[in-house]
Amino acid sequence: MLAWVLLPLLAFTGSASASLVSCLQSHNLNVEIPQNTTWNVSTTPFNLRFHYTPAAIVYPTQTTHVTLAVRCATQHGVHVSALSGGHSYSASGYGSRNGALVIMFRDMARITYNSNDETVVIQPGARLGAVALSLNDQGRALAHGTCPYVGVGGHGGFGGWGMAARNWGLLIDQIVSAEMVLSNGTVVHLSATQHPDLFWAIRGASASFGIVTQYVFQTHQAPSSVVRFSYQFNNTNLSTSQFTSLIEGYQTWASSTPKEVGIIANVLNGGKLVEMGGLYMGDLKSFYQVVEGPLIGRTGAAHIVYVEEVSWITALEQVWGSSLDTQQKPDTHDTFYAKSLVVPASSPLTPSALSAFATHAFFAPIPSSLSWFVQFELWGGGNSAISSLPADATAYPHRSHLWTIQFYARSTTTSWPKTGEGYVNGMVSAITNDAGMAGTVFGAYANYLDPELSGWQEMYYAGNYARLEQMRMGVDPKGVFEKTENVGGPDILI
Ligand SMILES: *[C@@H]1O[C@H](CO)[C@@H](O)[C@H](O)[C@H]1NC(C)=O
Ligand SMILES: *[C@@H]1O[C@H](CO)[C@@H](O)[C@H](O)[C@H]1NC(C)=O
Ligand SMILES: *[C@@H]1O[C@H](CO)[C@@H](O)[C@H](O)[C@H]1NC(C)=O
Ligand SMILES: *[C@@H]1O[C@H](CO)[C@@H](O)[C@H](O)[C@H]1NC(C)=O
Ligand SMILES: *[C@@H]1O[C@H](CO)[C@@H](O)[C@H](O)[C@H]1NC(C)=O
Repeated sequence: MLAWVLLPLLAFTGSASASLVSCLQSHNLNVEIPQNTTWNVSTTPFNLRFHYTPAAIVYPTQTTHVTLAVRCATQHGVHVSALSGGHSYSASGYGSRNGALVIMFRDMARITYNSNDETVVIQPGARLGAVALSLNDQGRALAHGTCPYVGVGGHGGFGGWGMAARNWGLLIDQIVSAEMVLSNGTVVHLSATQHPDLFWAIRGASASFGIVTQYVFQTHQAPSSVVRFSYQFNNTNLSTSQFTSLIEGYQTWASSTPKEVGIIANVLNGGKLVEMGGLYMGDLKSFYQVVEGPLIGRTGAAHIVYVEEVSWITALEQVWGSSLDTQQKPDTHDTFYAKSLVVPASSPLTPSALSAFATHAFFAPIPSSLSWFVQFELWGGGNSAISSLPADATAYPHRSHLWTIQFYARSTTTSWPKTGEGYVNGMVSAITNDAGMAGTVFGAYANYLDPELSGWQEMYYAGNYARLEQMRMGVDPKGVFEKTENVGGPDILI
């Protein structure tokens, strides 16, 4: 601990980082330092609410480069952090501190489909948009998230939910094997039969254990067509009772809807609009019978309806609301604070909790530069594949859960209002503090990383935390990969 406190100072006075950089350069690694004109852009995170200054950035093109970089860093007492797509909600790819060595996977983004066993080998820097497009060219698909620029490294490290997840599982549930560089520079191959403990740990908590340099996923046949749907419900008068009965109806329907349905209820425009949208892996006829009929039966008719049978890739594009081609234009930035709440299927949201949420979200004083959306993402319910595994099957533990609710507030300027966190926290505590939810054990989703979350160990990892902590002590005893909300242990680098 104490040794590390001094290190950022050393890094900035030059001596530690200069010798780290010459170590990296002696191995002919592609290194970026503050003197490079690209440095400013490379160190500007997706979420502008954060800024960390690395000691240096390395761009590996092969696994041995990662090994060499990790060895140089540990020789110089510098923490190491992998950055794949850079979309962490708290810029954690930069190591949650100044002075880390950042291993940026920009140049390790290959996607290689193998038709013999229908698996795909994906390097961590591949973006989800590229993964979807590349697999679709082969008539194949994976379940993964809905933001084209997100990188596979982080997304596949902590869960990886998307519109196909109820049918095919989380992205981590499709991992067959992985290659990882440990803190001592050793390269290991992980699968159900090779280092099964580490294979378990990387499926939900990978950044605490090492740097994954390659994943192998089991793919699925891309559906020939799917039903894309969107139902918009107005709540022009910001009625809390109208909102409550709408979400209650959605919840009752959701608890038994078949796994072929992927859906989010998105609360927008300060609460004036609720959009329930997603996709259904089936045909139009069964959609009307199995999905729309029962849903509208519970919610009442929507004000605006869109239902269309489209190709798999068109549906993804529509759900994502943007082109999947991340080569066309550079990634954007946002200035935001987000949290999540994972709700057990055994204690669904009560009307009083929904009403308390709406009262805060719609009417509590909000900084003028802030706008928000809240998403009720359906993870469980019916025969969801996510819930088909026990809580200890992977490090990610929340299997018998209905919702992951995402609370997201962004600033319309690049500065963040001081009361912004309080506003978002209020939306969450309106639900958790409601008398109707007393006794509920809520969780949180580590891919919506909230650096201010108290009790994050339990919230992210529930009953799996103790095992993870013990394993981390064995595999990274000095805390080379230590950063905010990584599985704990001593941080005694050097
Ligand atoms: C940083 O600048 C050096 C010297 O010009 C160059 O060799 C290196 O490739 C640059 N690094 C990156 C990542 O562009
Ligand atoms: C650094 O980049 C950001 C955007 O990425 C820009 O707003 C800022 O002006 C740049 N600063 C410098 C010193 O170039
Ligand atoms: C619902 O809102 C949309 C715009 O958001 C508007 O076009 C439509 O007329 C509204 N419908 C009702 C019934 O209020
Ligand atoms: C909103 O309130 C006004 C005034 O009370 C009422 O006339 C109108 O019907 C309400 N609209 C909705 C959509 O409930
Ligand atoms: C690196 O750590 C792993 C896991 O603890 C261990 O199996 C391996 O022998 C170590 N390698 C070296 C070179 O110390």
